[in-house]
Amino acid sequence: EKRSKVPQRELELEEMPMEVGGEQGRWEEERLKTACLSFGAKQERERGMKEERDRYQLILEEDEMINFVSTRPTPGEEAGLSQAEIRKESIQEVRRLLPIFPYREDLLAAIDQHQILVIEGETGSGKTTQIPQYLMEAGYTKGGLKIGCTQPRRVAAMSVAARVAEEVGAKLGNEVGYSIRFEDCTSERTILKYMTDGMLLREFLTEPDLATYSVVIIDEAHERTLHTDILFGLIKDIARFRSDLKVLVASATLDTERFSCFFDDAPVFRIPGRRFPVDIFYTKAPEADYLEACVVSVLQIHVTQPIGDVLVFLTGQEEIEACCEMLQERCRRLGSKISELLVLPIYANLPSDMQAKIFNPTPPGARKVVVATNIAETSLTIDGIIYVIDPGFCKQKSYNARTGMESLIVTPCSRASANQRAGRAGRVAAGKCFRLYTAWAFKHEMEESTVPEIQRTNLGNVVLLLKSLGINDLIHFDFMDPPPHETLVLALEQLYALGALNHLGELTKRRLNALDVNKGLAVPLSRYKCSEEVLTIAAMLSVNNSIFYRPKDKVVHADNARMNFVVPGGDHLVLLNVYTQWIESGYSTQWCYENFIQFRSMKRARDVRDQLEGLMERIEVEVVSCQGEPMPIRKAVTAGYFYHTARLSKGGYKTVKHQQTVYVHPNSSLFDEQTRWLIYHELVFTTKEFMRQVIEIDSAWLLEVAPHYYKNKELEDSSSKKMPRKQGKSKDELG
Ligand code: CDP
Ligand code: MG
Repeated sequence: EKRSKVPQRELELEEMPMEVGGEQGRWEEERLKTACLSFGAKQERERGMKEERDRYQLILEEDEMINFVSTRPTPGEEAGLSQAEIRKESIQEVRRLLPIFPYREDLLAAIDQHQILVIEGETGSGKTTQIPQYLMEAGYTKGGLKIGCTQPRRVAAMSVAARVAEEVGAKLGNEVGYSIRFEDCTSERTILKYMTDGMLLREFLTEPDLATYSVVIIDEAHERTLHTDILFGLIKDIARFRSDLKVLVASATLDTERFSCFFDDAPVFRIPGRRFPVDIFYTKAPEADYLEACVVSVLQIHVTQPIGDVLVFLTGQEEIEACCEMLQERCRRLGSKISELLVLPIYANLPSDMQAKIFNPTPPGARKVVVATNIAETSLTIDGIIYVIDPGFCKQKSYNARTGMESLIVTPCSRASANQRAGRAGRVAAGKCFRLYTAWAFKHEMEESTVPEIQRTNLGNVVLLLKSLGINDLIHFDFMDPPPHETLVLALEQLYALGALNHLGELTKRRLNALDVNKGLAVPLSRYKCSEEVLTIAAMLSVNNSIFYRPKDKVVHADNARMNFVVPGGDHLVLLNVYTQWIESGYSTQWCYENFIQFRSMKRARDVRDQLEGLMERIEVEVVSCQGEPMPIRKAVTAGYFYHTARLSKGGYKTVKHQQTVYVHPNSSLFDEQTRWLIYHELVFTTKEFMRQVIEIDSAWLLEVAPHYYKNKELEDSSSKKMPRKQGKSKDELG
């Protein structure tokens, strides 16, 4: 509601030139000048690049230079080709126009000569879509061998695979496919497989030498996700004894020297990009509300700037949806005073048909605004972007080794990120980037580059994964940037406390880690005779926070619907209740709709649940039900998450081990409940440190399930000083 009250600035907009102005920076066409391979640089090639560039700019200097959709019939249409033929022709034409194309032969030669090659190229130069195709064309998939290409993001893996399948003329899932968590779109015929980096890690479990692969491409290496970092170590290792395996490390123009260094000085192949100058604008003063500032800037651009599409970087789904709504609302009010503005969101959980929309060409006369997470920084290339709006924030996982807590926080992005973002404006023509922060903040408040994920995460899952791969000496694992020692030790401790490792640091139930969706819940599954229910809860938690639908115009209805699902004891039980009722409705879509439940999330939960159940069968854990009886379920959750405990204290909660102040999330069923002891599923920091998905427990259970972790003293109720112990406890037991 706060948002709708923000002052209306539209009128000023039309009269005022760009408010955001002030200091300007100019990007040099440094790529073009230094354009060449550090790897066998050649004069001629430089000349070639220059001609190429002149040609390119000439094309752009024609009338419809920025809006690429021509209203004239294309030569293909004039020649009477069918739409499908034209599409095919134009795809091949587009492939030839990509910056990577002139280097096809040199690249293949370099790959032939070297086992490991680092490939650096501007976003959009064609690394992800073209290199695997070149390799296929050059025969690297002979004899049924596969090419694997990893992506840090699910969306990128899916959309790139779809694009390449189209370019190749294959049905997605046949020769070209993708594999992401819980969704395998490949077949026996698949020879080019795009996948998330996490999925390739999993393949090490079944195929430790990646024998069915002839080439592995670690793409978007600069993102330095946890999984990518682990892959580096593992692949470097297997490359030593699989001399026939080609390893390509592809990255945007960042950090490539470091990759080269890590891979024993592997050569770097640089693909010169075509980058046009980008003017950078900063705000004169800091913006208080960057969301509002984004909306205003988009409209300002729309009414004052020449045609060309806009890309806005926000931090997550909620913000993106809010921004899109605000934009649409204002456009409605401005009506015919402005030309058409197409507002398109893009984030990981957006349905794929909606995602595909951002790639559609903008109709003549209109302007497209893509509101994206930092997925559009390097993993996706959207053609036609001329303007970039960068509030300078991103959502980052951060981990506190002292408290053992992991949280997602909106933080200022790094200067390297900001520069990547700005670069998106200069891909097809000279562009402009509007930074919604001051030049001073850029210089003094932003970090140089993003800290690799491995240094800001809980390593529990990684340790389990590496251990299950037979890697026991984690301290000496070949990490590009080793995680802090204390983080590793803490992870080992936690796993020991969970019973996943024995006192020698060995895996206890080797295959339990297959259940790592919620590793905490895996351990006690068999003990409390409620695996049926716990599986459901684990599945529901894995699609977290997207179960309930709360459209802005039906907030009251949605909240009432949500209240109807509340059962005593906590959010885990509420989730179970939702799922149970959904089963009773026959997995009905209509039921979801009527109850403001997101059908897509439920379907996903069902998928996850089926897979977990399959895993349970494989590891021979019997699935039994407690008939919805809450006590065993609460105990099972306690056993799994005993280290996520908080107790009621003045004004809020304190975590038991580390005395950190935390609060129950307002969306929780226990929000106003003053429950004394809680287990939380996760912490999120928005305005405060909130516990999301909480369940009520009895502190006595903690000593029962984790006697080596808690001391009696820590679990004494502060109120028990005044009250006899028994009384203090009985309220909890009412639950
Ligand atoms: O990997 P890199 O950033 O170097 O480029 P790419 O992802 O291979 O993109 C090359 C070109 O393919 C882009 O300019 C896009 O026009 C096009 N592309 C597309 O149309 N649809 C996608 N889903 C991905 C790429
Ligand atoms: Mg790419």
